[in-house]
Amino acid sequence: MNVSPFPGDSRPLLEVRQLNHAYPLRRHKLFEPRSVLKVLQGVDFAVRRGEAVGLVGESGSGKTTLSRMLTGVEKPHDGHVLYDGSDVWSGTPEQRQLFRRSVQVVLQNPRSSLDPRMRVGTSLLEPLRSLKIEGDHAARVLEVLDQVGLTKSAMERFPHEFSGGQLQRIAIARALMPGPKVLIADEPVSALDVSIQAQVLNLLKDLVRDLGLGLVFIAHDLSVVTYTTSKVYVMSSGKIVEVGKPLDLFRAPKAEATQNLVAAILTVELGLSGKAFA
Ligand SMILES: Nc1ncnc2c1ncn2[C@@H]1O[C@H](COP(=O)(O)OP(=O)(O)OP(=O)(O)O)[C@@H](O)[C@H]1O
Ligand SMILES: [Mg+2]
Repeated sequence: MNVSPFPGDSRPLLEVRQLNHAYPLRRHKLFEPRSVLKVLQGVDFAVRRGEAVGLVGESGSGKTTLSRMLTGVEKPHDGHVLYDGSDVWSGTPEQRQLFRRSVQVVLQNPRSSLDPRMRVGTSLLEPLRSLKIEGDHAARVLEVLDQVGLTKSAMERFPHEFSGGQLQRIAIARALMPGPKVLIADEPVSALDVSIQAQVLNLLKDLVRDLGLGLVFIAHDLSVVTYTTSKVYVMSSGKIVEVGKPLDLFRAPKAEATQNLVAAILTVELGLSGKAFA
């Protein structure tokens, strides 16, 4: 069953095929041959319009590296990044520009991703300037503030005047400014208090539903992803080791990496409720 409110869009909007990427490792001895760390190995990944997809895996498994490929800030050594069916790295400059505008990222910590000296309104305009997007910028700011549940008064204020949850709304607003079709959220709630995490997760879910965005939600924590997404990719040592519906993965994890993620949730939950020590 296709649960997307955009059932016509069965074709991926953003997709990577057979991505390989490696970083050189530091040499211990001067004349030692340089070895490499294979960070992505044959990775296939796709997100559709109106679909929220999770990407989970232990620290260092390659999640952020994959997100850098999905947003085009880094070019893979090998493989293809396709936006709306066109290869991003072999397309025309116009296609590349459309891709850059259409895929935006929300980072983990809004306190470091927003300039503390800039009024929020100025920060929101910055992506329009750097992408050379024309139009009624003031109207766009108001529209986007409304989409993330903030009022006009936020424009005149500075980041330190906001709580962590409000700041993450502003960071999401900034990502929405260019009118993206896909949002990549790399650990968007892990720097927030548990009590406000749910509000930001609900906002992301609403944006997927109301704007038909594709969402790539990156997290360590399988429980956060279970709440937010309808399909999850599990990564381990640069490979996608399992793909499935979040509850299926949760109930019957097949890959060792998925089993470890499920065990980690159970350990935390038992620990919090005191049962681990009973
Ligand atoms: N620019 C770089 N140069 C060298 N090594 C890098 C670089 N970026 C990442 N790495 C290495 O690549 C591996 C994957 O890193 P990545 O940041 O993609 O992991 P991650 O899954 O996002 O981890 P985390 O959950 O901690 O954010 C790690 O071993 C990391 O040290
Ligand atoms: Mg990361």
